[in-house]
Amino acid sequence: MAKDLNFSCSECGAAFRKWSGQCDACQSWNTISESKALSSGPKGKSLGAIRGNAIPLTDLDTQEQEPPRTEAGVGELDRVLGGGLVKASALLVGGDPGIGKSTLLLQAAARFARNGLKVIYISGEESNAQVQMRARRLGLEKSPVMLASETNLRDILTTLEEEKPDLAIIDSIQTMWADNVDSAPGSVSQVRSSAHELTTFAKRNGMAVIMVGHVTKEGAIAGPRVVEHMVDTVLYFEGERGHQFRILRSVKNRFGPADEIGVFEMTGKGLAEVKNPSALFLSERGPPAPGSVVFAGIEGSRPMLCEIQALVAPSPHSQPRRSVVGWDGGRLAMIMAVLESRCGVPFTGLDVYLNVAGGLRISEPGADLAVAAALVSAREDAALPAEAVVFGEISLSGALRPVVQSENRLKEAQKLGFTTAILPQQAKQPSVEGLGLRHATDLAGFVEEVFGAR
Ligand code: TYD
Ligand code: MG
Repeated sequence: MAKDLNFSCSECGAAFRKWSGQCDACQSWNTISESKALSSGPKGKSLGAIRGNAIPLTDLDTQEQEPPRTEAGVGELDRVLGGGLVKASALLVGGDPGIGKSTLLLQAAARFARNGLKVIYISGEESNAQVQMRARRLGLEKSPVMLASETNLRDILTTLEEEKPDLAIIDSIQTMWADNVDSAPGSVSQVRSSAHELTTFAKRNGMAVIMVGHVTKEGAIAGPRVVEHMVDTVLYFEGERGHQFRILRSVKNRFGPADEIGVFEMTGKGLAEVKNPSALFLSERGPPAPGSVVFAGIEGSRPMLCEIQALVAPSPHSQPRRSVVGWDGGRLAMIMAVLESRCGVPFTGLDVYLNVAGGLRISEPGADLAVAAALVSAREDAALPAEAVVFGEISLSGALRPVVQSENRLKEAQKLGFTTAILPQQAKQPSVEGLGLRHATDLAGFVEEVFGAR
């Protein structure tokens, strides 16, 4: 045990118990001096006096080379990755079981392989035959992707060290089993140590690793969030089971913007990218109906229009129902409270249902005004003009706040044939040709102007 090593060599850093004229380690003379311990703390638990190597320091100005990236050639995927897959990085792709993670990654593997990367796909869940069957269904059986069905982490790392791939895909991290950890695969400690081993291996060997993680009911990647902290990029693959749309969302990205999304459609032949999601999300919209409002939203860097639907009906229950799909329930309660107390539009004794069409999940507060419009429209049984989009944030006082990227939202609306936009008043009003703007400063004014209600 390293105890009381209070002398160290200034040349090589070796630590000694007592002073001497020559360093035993590097043979230099007169380099040993008494030094304070590196850290203080209980003996045996702190770093003590032993010195490590000095790290070379640099300034902020020196340009380090950007890490090399490889594009998949699938726009929706590359954008979410921040412009391609970065060498020596670790990614986590989370999602509900059955949402299409294995399908997405097999397709991505084939793309990267075609673009010159050496790719190994390791499945801990399916046999080689099952993966090959999926590959045939996707028309990818001729892709130069190497395949293995294995869960033993030691064997996997040995193989990766020998093969030296550019990209390894681990499907899934919950099935991995490190033989030095004394618990079952899928347990927190197994997941944590497998992810740590794979991540450090990837960094050391210049390999990119993509790990699949199943999400628990509560939405956290099982084996708690420790894995999210270890990796460079965390992507979530989301979607509603009954819908064919799938959204790949970056929630953390050290090499690109977070909150960027890619939209895909699950077809009989795997995932197809959706280049114009607004058109797709609005394609199922019928003639103008009460309770239906088109929201001009922003997801990451791209504008996206979608339909918000509300239904308000007299409740047979003593406690009326409030049901939300695709939006935040707490936020809905807040907007109903503002409508009630600032605009005199009560919802007592009424059931309220809110739905974002197409299985989309919206989280930006910019949807407040569209939600309020849908609620009032449903309650008053008055449809909004069909060619109008709505966006804006509502504050508790009932005032409307402008939102980011108004101009992009308006341009997208204009591109899709809308002629009117209803938005909050703001200092520098954007203008888009062919689009009439209607401004409102507060919610009460908006309700009165649009619906003529109280
Ligand atoms: P999968 O990738 O196995 O999901 P995960 O790995 O996230 O558990 O995908 C499962 C679903 O995708 C399954 O219900 C079938 C469907 N699917 C298609 O609709 N088309 C296809 O071409 C493929 C391969 C799967
Ligand atoms: Mg799978």
